[in-house]
Amino acid sequence: MGYKGALYKLKGLYKFGDITSKIRGKVFINKRGQIRVGKNLSIVGHPWAVQITSTKGANLVIGDHVYINAGVGIAANKEIVIGDNVKIGPRTSIFDSNYHRMDSTDKGELCKKITIGNNVWIGADCTILPGVTIGDNSVIAAKSTVNKDIPNNVLVGGSPAKLIRELIIEDGWVRD
Ligand SMILES: CC(C)(COP(=O)(O)OP(=O)(O)OC[C@H]1O[C@@H](n2cnc3c(N)ncnc32)[C@H](O)[C@@H]1OP(=O)(O)O)[C@@H](O)C(=O)NCCC(=O)NCCS
Repeated sequence: MGYKGALYKLKGLYKFGDITSKIRGKVFINKRGQIRVGKNLSIVGHPWAVQITSTKGANLVIGDHVYINAGVGIAANKEIVIGDNVKIGPRTSIFDSNYHRMDSTDKGELCKKITIGNNVWIGADCTILPGVTIGDNSVIAAKSTVNKDIPNNVLVGGSPAKLIRELIIEDGWVRD
């Protein structure tokens, strides 16, 4: 879907931001559930398409001034909440469902809410797994797999992601 199609679909959402939102390249939006988008959303759908899904009964919330880079996949099967001023690096996946059971005894919940705080930077090629909360201002280094909650104001990296160091974040500082 090109710019016009994506913009058309996004405009049909419950809340769409202002006219400054920039959507470029290919963006596939599969909206069966709810999607709410804040103002000044940027999506770069080239050279890799971006896919944003909210399945029936699911809830996807994207805050203000969020930047979604090429090849990102976001799929809400239950609930994904992305805060304000969040940057999501190329080819990162944020899926709140495992989709498949491990074996015949696996009766666990497939879908678990993902929460990404304000001012978070997620690097390229990261995977954010179901059930995870990432705290405000934290940074996820490139190629990380986040399988546990991440506190506020830290740099984490690796697969699974581990603490690298704490970050110094002054009051009111916004990631550019
Ligand atoms: C995290 C990052 C910003 C570097 O931060 P930094 O503070 O300069 O970190 P350093 O290079 O000094 O490394 C600090 C430690 O983190 C480790 N580290 C850095 N990047 C890492 C990564 N992606 N995965 C795992 N560990 C990583 C280093 O090996 C080092 O460990 P050590 O102290 O045991 O040697 C950078 O490595 C990164 O991942 N950038 C993301 C780039 C990207 O995805 N851009 C796309 C556009 S959104």
